[in-house]
Amino acid sequence: MQYRTLGASGLLVSPICLGTMTFGEPVAEADAIRLVHGALDLGINFVDSANVYEGYRRYLGSAGGVAEEIVGKALKDRRDNVVLATKVCAPVGPGPQDRGLSASHILREVDRSLRRLQTDYIDLYIVHWPDRHTPLETTLAALDKCAEQGKVRYIGASNHNAAQLCEMLWIADRQGSSRVVSSQIPYSLLRREFHHDLTFCDRHTIGVTPYQPLQGGLLTGKYRRNEQPPGDSRAAEKPDWMWALDDALFDRLEVLDGLAKELDVPSAQYALAWTLRQTAMSSLVVGAKRHEQIADAVNSLQVRLPDEHLVRLDEACPLPWHQPDPIRG
Ligand SMILES: NC(=O)c1ccc[n+]([C@@H]2O[C@H](COP(=O)([O-])OP(=O)(O)OC[C@H]3O[C@@H](n4cnc5c(N)ncnc54)[C@H](OP(=O)(O)O)[C@@H]3O)[C@@H](O)[C@H]2O)c1
Repeated sequence: MQYRTLGASGLLVSPICLGTMTFGEPVAEADAIRLVHGALDLGINFVDSANVYEGYRRYLGSAGGVAEEIVGKALKDRRDNVVLATKVCAPVGPGPQDRGLSASHILREVDRSLRRLQTDYIDLYIVHWPDRHTPLETTLAALDKCAEQGKVRYIGASNHNAAQLCEMLWIADRQGSSRVVSSQIPYSLLRREFHHDLTFCDRHTIGVTPYQPLQGGLLTGKYRRNEQPPGDSRAAEKPDWMWALDDALFDRLEVLDGLAKELDVPSAQYALAWTLRQTAMSSLVVGAKRHEQIADAVNSLQVRLPDEHLVRLDEACPLPWHQPDPIRG
């Protein structure tokens, strides 16, 4: 495994990070623990969780905690070899303090996460979403307190665009608090709206750890036009977590599957190899239901896409906008 730096943290992480959003359901506890151990045995040293994860059972405001508990059990004897990330912000109950990025919520939730994860420290504590009700000064000061207490080593952001990351860095520098070292954004061949923010992350040494690089499984080649989704797939089990399987989607998927076939590479590996080649990428946060799927992700590290494919992929999966350049054309 060739490890990559995680932004300015100095941490070395595997280019594949194991996501745990489906721990609890459909990935039951014993299977999830085996999945974590199998991933570590493949050289993966980066695990991503969140205080709210509880698999398919999750609804807005449910208590969460299930995935962190399972991760805690899985890592009990292997904690020091893992870069462990978890997140805070999303609702964990119906009350007004049960969500967001106030000092009260962060300081309560960090202790709950530590307890469930059975650890003294979180390597990367991630702000799951922006919270427009809390000034960033307050949030960053609360995260610094977690770091001073030794509960958190580094802080990261998720679902923040470049302007929001810029404000976080700016305020951190002004008040002397910790800078974010990572950005977890949705990013895949089918979802490129954050594409232009990658350059910002590169310039400011923020490691990008995109989530859903397989777009929930759509980019694995297992969904076919005019066919029912496979019975054990997410589209069959949890369709409200998936995009509509319509003709416009299959028009794009068929182009991508065709390109992967040209290289004789499985579609999932092709999609992950492309994502890893993008600017500022530290590690792809991949979900897996079975060991073979995470092994497939690790095998994508051997795949090299020719430059000519990159051009064709840009045509098939266009950028969100093009910056006109009258000076250099
Ligand atoms: N920060 C955020 O707001 C945020 C949001 C969402 C997710 N995340 C993180 O990102 C992680 C990944 O998200 P995700 O699981 O939705 O996205 P994903 O990695 O794009 O999709 C993973 C799913 O695709 C299927 N799959 C994976 N490899 C496959 C293969 N080789 N062949 C066939 N099917 C395969 C599996 O589902 P089936 O077998 O069930 O079809 C698997 O659960 C989460 O666990 C979480 O840690 C973060």
